[in-house]
Formats: sequence, structure tokens, C-alpha cells
Amino acid sequence: SKDDLILPKDFPQLLNDTFLRAARGEETEHVPVWCMRQAGRYLPEFRESRAGKDFFETCRSPAACCELTLQPLRRFPFDAAIIFSDILVVPQAMGMDVQMVPGKGPTFPEPLKEPEDLQRLHVKVDVAKELGYVFKAITLTRHKIEGKVPLIGFTGAPWTLMSYMIEGGGSNTHSKAKRWLYRHPEASHMLLKMLTDVIVEYLLGQVAAGAQALQVFESHAGILGPAEFKEFSLPYLRDIARRVKDKLKEAGKDVPMIAFAKDAHYGLEDLSQSHYEVVGLDWTIDPRSARERTGGKVSLQGNMDPCALYAPKERISDIVKKMLEGFGTRGYIANLGHGLYPDMDPENVGAFVKAVHQHSKQMIKQ
Ligand code: CP3
Repeated sequence: SKDDLILPKDFPQLLNDTFLRAARGEETEHVPVWCMRQAGRYLPEFRESRAGKDFFETCRSPAACCELTLQPLRRFPFDAAIIFSDILVVPQAMGMDVQMVPGKGPTFPEPLKEPEDLQRLHVKVDVAKELGYVFKAITLTRHKIEGKVPLIGFTGAPWTLMSYMIEGGGSNTHSKAKRWLYRHPEASHMLLKMLTDVIVEYLLGQVAAGAQALQVFESHAGILGPAEFKEFSLPYLRDIARRVKDKLKEAGKDVPMIAFAKDAHYGLEDLSQSHYEVVGLDWTIDPRSARERTGGKVSLQGNMDPCALYAPKERISDIVKKMLEGFGTRGYIANLGHGLYPDMDPENVGAFVKAVHQHSKQMIKQ
């Protein structure tokens, strides 16, 4: 197809690098802003594009991923875009069947039950072959985005992916996955290591394809306690950042990395010393205390409660102002504390973006 001829080079020049500068802690004219799940079902045009199509089929179409990634940029002056895809494409690449069941969410028909089941996973994953469709989507989007804003690539972190592979889908207790940690610690580490190896190659492939920043989603950090986080999550998050950065350095590339470990309060100090330039925060952390605990070592991203978008627009503006005052305008990327929900009003998302830009411009001028 025509898309196959598009190569990861000669990209349009980047016109707005505010997000990249904030990630590195440099001065900016305004605080950059983007939203997790900004390409999502709250947009009527997204629902229309996705209508009647299988979710993972959509993920495998570079043209569809590109279109869905660009949709929110046509409405709002976001300072970054995140490639449309899903964290569960990695377990798929390792040989697991994953389906998106409407109304139920991601489902693994045959989840991992016992350590023997690790033998079902591919020993050596050909990342370029299995996940090349994501790389093509990134390259195509880098061309079509016309340098408006940087494009973020992403992955799920090992523990979050492991928990899905064992639970087989969403869960309240995550007790099946946690059972492995307590009952099969060695097999757990083996699986986490396998995932880490694939993730490192996957992230490097995304950068080679054109990703200008990388976010690692440890969405299920919060179901671990401090000790389990230190044993089963943090070492792998660190390993990923170190290995990706070492390789990128060899290639003379500098790509900011964001660690988003949802609900992992106890891990904040450790996360700020884990080779990531940016630590993403959920809404349960007070901005000032997050700054104190990370000691200016990293930039911070977040963390408005997504549900604050249900408030009237004036109230959103007040909440944003307080958030900016808490974080300060330097080394800060405004975002929500988690993704947008399907029933949110696009107009209020617009009000959020506008409030971040307006208040932060005022604060920086003073
Ligand atoms: O806009 C963006 O943020 C980029 C795209 C993106 C998606 N998934 C698209 C998507 C990103 C970054 C993800 C990551 C992801 N996927 C995470 C980590 C972030 C988080 O939310 O904590 C997780 C846990 C998943 C797994 C997953 N995929 C879930 C739980 C769901 C929701 C299922 C449901 O029915 O509500 C998905 C599906 C999904 N991924 C949607 C989108 C836009 C909605 C389904 C659709 O479009 O049909």
C-alpha cells in the first residue's frame, strides 16, 4: 500500500516544542497540556470512525490510528499528541489472544493460570514483525501531524501487563495476579523479565519510527503495597528507562520518558530517581507535596481529577489555577490524573486546555 512507502525520515519541522522543553525542565512561555485518552469515545468523530469496527483491527490499521490520533488536535490546542494504540498489543505480540468485548473491555480467552503456562508465550518475539503496524502508524502520523506538536509513543509497564495476562481482563481485587506474586515469585520475575525485554525493543522501535517522547503506563501500581512495588514494579520500570536511554544515547538521541504509576504514592521518591525525566501523577496526590517529595529532580505531569471536567467551565478554570499554583509553571506538564471518560463533554475539555494556557501565561509573565 501507499503507506508502506512512507519512511521514518524527512519529517516536517517541529513548530511547538513546549511539551519537550517542559519535560526537560526548561523555561516555556506557557504550561503545555495534553490529556490521557485524548483520542477517545468522548469525541463524536472518534465514535463515528470506530463504529462497527473491531478495536484491535483498528489498532492494526496505520491510517486509522493516524486519523484517530489527529482528531483531538483539530478541536483543541493540545501541546502533544499520543499515538492511538493500546497497551495490550504487547501480550498479543507474545502469543496471547486478546479481544475487546464491547461493554466489558479487554478480555483474554485463555489467561495465564499457572507458571507452566509461561511456555505458551513466544520465547523470542520478533518485535519489528509483530508490532511493525504500530511503528508504521507512528511514522505516518509524524508526517501527517505537520510538526504541530510532538508525538508521544507508549507502552504498558511489565506489572500492569502481567496482571492483565493473568486476570484475563478487568478486576476489582486483582487477586489472581497478586496470587502469583506471593505464591510464584520466581515465575513472576521470569514473566516480568520477558515483558521487559519486549518492551525495551518496542519502545526503541517507536523512537526509530518517529516517537518524540515515551510514556510507560503502570496503571495497576496502586494495587501493590510498598514492598511489592519495590520488588515487582520499580526494578523493571528502572531497567526499561536505563536500557532505552543507553541505546538512544549510542544513537545520539534524547527522548524524554514519562513514568505514570497510578496510585503509587509510596513510590514517588523512588520514581523520581529512576531515570525518567517526567513522573506522571494521579489526582490523589497534592501538587505541593508531590513537588517536595520529588525534590525538583524531575518534571511532573498531571493531575486534575478527570471528574472535575463534569464541573461548570468557570469552576474548571478555578481548579486549574489552583493546580498550576501548586505545581508551579516550571518543569510541569498539565494533564488529568487518568484518562478521559466517554461521557465527558468535549467543550469542557476545551475549557481545561484554555484555562491551562491562559493562567500559566499570566503566571509566567509576572
Ligand atoms: O488517547 C490516548 O490516550 C491514546 C490511546 C490509548 C488507548 N489505550 C486507546 C483506547 C492509550 C494510551 C491506552 C492505554 C491503555 N489501555 C491503558 C493504560 C492507561 C490507563 O487507562 O490506565 C490500559 C489499562 C488499557 C487497556 C484498555 N484498553 C482498557 C481498560 C480499555 C477500556 C475498555 C472499555 O470498554 O472501556 C481499552 C480500550 C481502549 N483503548 C479505548 C481506547 C480509546 C476505548 C475502546 C474503543 O475505542 O472502542
